[in-house]
Amino acid sequence: MAALPAHAYQQQQQDQQDQQQQSSTVAYRASVLHFTGDPSATQQSHEYYEDGVLLVGADGKVKAAGPAATILANNPYVPVVDLRGRLIVPGFIDSHVHYPQTEMIGSFGEQLLEWLNTYTFPTESQFGNKTYALGVAKVFVNELVKNGTTTALVMATVHPESVDALFEEAAKRNMRIIAGKVMMDRNAPDNLLDTPATSYADSKTLINRWHKRGRALYAVTPRFAPTSTPEQLTMAGKLLQEYPDVYMHTHMSENKSEIAWVQELFPASNGYLDVYNSFGLSRKRSVYAHGVHLREDELASLAHTGSAIAFCPTSNLFLGSGLFDLQAAERHGVKVGMGTDVGAGTSFSALRTMGEAYKVIQLHKAFADDPSTKKPLTALKSFYLSTLGAARALDLDDKIGSFKVGNEADFVVLNPNATELLKFRSARATTLEEKLFVLQTLGDDRTVERTYIMGKRQ
Ligand code: GUN
Ligand code: ZN
Repeated sequence: MAALPAHAYQQQQQDQQDQQQQSSTVAYRASVLHFTGDPSATQQSHEYYEDGVLLVGADGKVKAAGPAATILANNPYVPVVDLRGRLIVPGFIDSHVHYPQTEMIGSFGEQLLEWLNTYTFPTESQFGNKTYALGVAKVFVNELVKNGTTTALVMATVHPESVDALFEEAAKRNMRIIAGKVMMDRNAPDNLLDTPATSYADSKTLINRWHKRGRALYAVTPRFAPTSTPEQLTMAGKLLQEYPDVYMHTHMSENKSEIAWVQELFPASNGYLDVYNSFGLSRKRSVYAHGVHLREDELASLAHTGSAIAFCPTSNLFLGSGLFDLQAAERHGVKVGMGTDVGAGTSFSALRTMGEAYKVIQLHKAFADDPSTKKPLTALKSFYLSTLGAARALDLDDKIGSFKVGNEADFVVLNPNATELLKFRSARATTLEEKLFVLQTLGDDRTVERTYIMGKRQ
């Protein structure tokens, strides 16, 4: 047989290695970090093994995470993938992102309401075309994987085809995606409007088609209060009653003009959250993007109902929306996950998002009445918010977000030497905290060496 060219040979080797890894338990040896609790709430928030192993079963689930010496001694015949010098963490979870907006990241010059009219609505009007939607979904899913994001809560568009396209692309990779058809029946161009009846019927069809099919989960998705009539929000509440284990996903209190507009549209309401509460939309698995300008009583209400906030720093900075008060959310015990909010967000990278979150909290301190009460955002906390914290916000911490035995083995391999500067700086980092902080300050998709979904290398 003729010799294979070098690249084909390498591919064959890679394929064989991948096959072998799928059909047996595999030990991934590297530094291993994951969270068992919230670093703001407990001293014992994480487990870190400098020379560690993540042991993944043939079923794609975590069998163990611990010191290499112990795990390798207990599993002498298991193949070892030697990734020493790298850091393995759970796959990142993006708590709020718009896949149709992938093509409009970095649209210049507007704040929320004008930005929606100028850029977002024209972009989203293309997604009634399934072929078009599939093309963008493919790019989107690739970007998630390249950036080490293995789960996302995603807004599609008003078109049911857009939801099918995303779930189909995600299913090819067995990716745990939560998504839904946007419901909007006013204050947008005619070609983007549904009605209370069609939004109800289309959502129902999509729930029946996708919710819990493989790893897919469905989110009832009213875009935000200004684009839904009370009749439509009533339908959203009805869907949640009929399907209690689906998600609710919307925007809230992102921008001051938006908040004033909601008060005009719902004059009887006691603020923005009260609009959603009055239609029964707040409960466990309800995720509100932003919450930048929430009042204390609204934060208390979110905690009470078990709802979550997606903190989207790159978006809040890019649109000039404001500075999310993470400490206030924490004080009230509101669940928070980190989100990119692409395309208002400027990066798919969880590392870039953590880096910008740190700056948001720094600015908070600068503008606080009493800066001495404000603490910097630690790297441990931001890695938590992108892994276990987000899993808790999405009520998925029994499946993903940490290396608890039996969890789905979604994980990423980060290389602290990925760029010259990162290598130079990382060499001078002495503690775990400092290493993580350097990763989130300088890291991006180049830092993500490998991404695994249920134990399968992507
Ligand atoms: N509020 C309503 N729609 C949107 C959107 O698409 N992006 C952001 N950032 N906020 C919104
Ligand atoms: Zn958004």
